[in-house]
Amino acid sequence: MFKKKVRNFAMASVFAIAVFVWLFTGLVQVGEAAQSDLLSLPPYVGMPTESSVLVNLVAGARPISCRIRFHRADADKPAWSFSEKTAMKPDEVADLRLTGLESGTRYIYEVMAAVEGEGTEQTIAGGGFKTRMVRPDKFSFAVFSDSHITPRAPERVGVLGPVADAVAFRKPDFALALGDNIQALGNTHAGPFVNPGDPRICYTLYRQGLRHLPSETVLFNVIGNWEGENGWHPEQARAWARETRMKMIPGPGVQRYAEGGSPDGGYYAFTWGDVLCIALHVTGYTPTNHALGSKEGKVDDWTLGEQQLAWLTECLKTSTAKWKLIFTHHTVGGRAGDDENSRYGRGGALAAHVGEQQKVHELMQKYGVQAFFYGHDHVFTYQEADGIPYICVGSAGAPWKFGPGETGYPWSVRDSGFVWVDVDGERMGVSFIAGDASVQGGRELKHYEIERGKARSQ
Ligand SMILES: [Fe+2]
Repeated sequence: MFKKKVRNFAMASVFAIAVFVWLFTGLVQVGEAAQSDLLSLPPYVGMPTESSVLVNLVAGARPISCRIRFHRADADKPAWSFSEKTAMKPDEVADLRLTGLESGTRYIYEVMAAVEGEGTEQTIAGGGFKTRMVRPDKFSFAVFSDSHITPRAPERVGVLGPVADAVAFRKPDFALALGDNIQALGNTHAGPFVNPGDPRICYTLYRQGLRHLPSETVLFNVIGNWEGENGWHPEQARAWARETRMKMIPGPGVQRYAEGGSPDGGYYAFTWGDVLCIALHVTGYTPTNHALGSKEGKVDDWTLGEQQLAWLTECLKTSTAKWKLIFTHHTVGGRAGDDENSRYGRGGALAAHVGEQQKVHELMQKYGVQAFFYGHDHVFTYQEADGIPYICVGSAGAPWKFGPGETGYPWSVRDSGFVWVDVDGERMGVSFIAGDASVQGGRELKHYEIERGKARSQ
């Protein structure tokens, strides 16, 4: 009897302690959540002009009113400026515009919010960015590609994370993601999407994978063949993908730079200091099916479409920038390790004279483009065609690393990572950096120097 009482008391005590611990930790979690769950993702900064940026916010589960305060990063005594105040419903996405900024200047910002109708405003997120640099000066930028983020393979977020952290640690002026940033949820290779809500799931996971990179660095977006926006996809499915991308990834589109581009943000250009950066949409205007394994698409029937090609020509012709660079998912034609991969658009410099890439290559020669950056092949390599370097920037999440049988490249680096570019007067340093969680800023694996007007391998 006594033993039974002792046992019951002991069991009751364990239960009481368990309840207390559960209640206590629960309260702590609720307390923390009150501050952190007002946004469901870290902010994403895009579309930097010489006097403004957009900060994209995604609300959490409660209605909030929020605004952003900001000041120059080099200010001794911060004098805060404020954005307009915005009311956001649960899960709503909004771009807040910061204006009155100075060109080529780094700023710090804080997102301040209050639950609608209760509580006082508190700082719930923050970061920094640099505005578009108008006057020529040396600077650095980063390029990464092919994260292939999808809820069907959540482990890829774990590969993108250290790459994103390493880029953020280095504080470039801006970064570019060269496509296949997400992986369309569909029943066939590389999309199309089959449910209207799926693009939001993919872009949400992608932004989680980027961690605080887009809060700390302006990030430009380029579209690949896995975004669900290919020319051979049904328009309805493309619209789901396009609208979600434009909502969750702020960038050139409806608002554009003086260099112009497409209203859907597929292709655009901007000038940073004395560097013209041109982003192309290589899969958006090709009507024939180029999914891997499709017998329909040919090595030489890829097309940028009449409008994009005319715009590219005009953009190169009118720019007086010292440096001209092209960024796209792959060449506008393929010549790789085998026929299937060639039709898929692989091969970089090997495809310089195939199909419409021949036209792009001639434009690069005529107007002095110094480098062609692309992704798609998931490895780092640089090969020259007529002295113009074609730089494949590796991958930052994709599990597949293609070998010479697929790509046709005599050499390549398969580590996950990003390309780091230093622009300094007449030279441009190009490094490939592995995203190594144990080394802040990553680990350099390869280096390549481009002298203006002359490419030189090391
Ligand atoms: Fe890819």
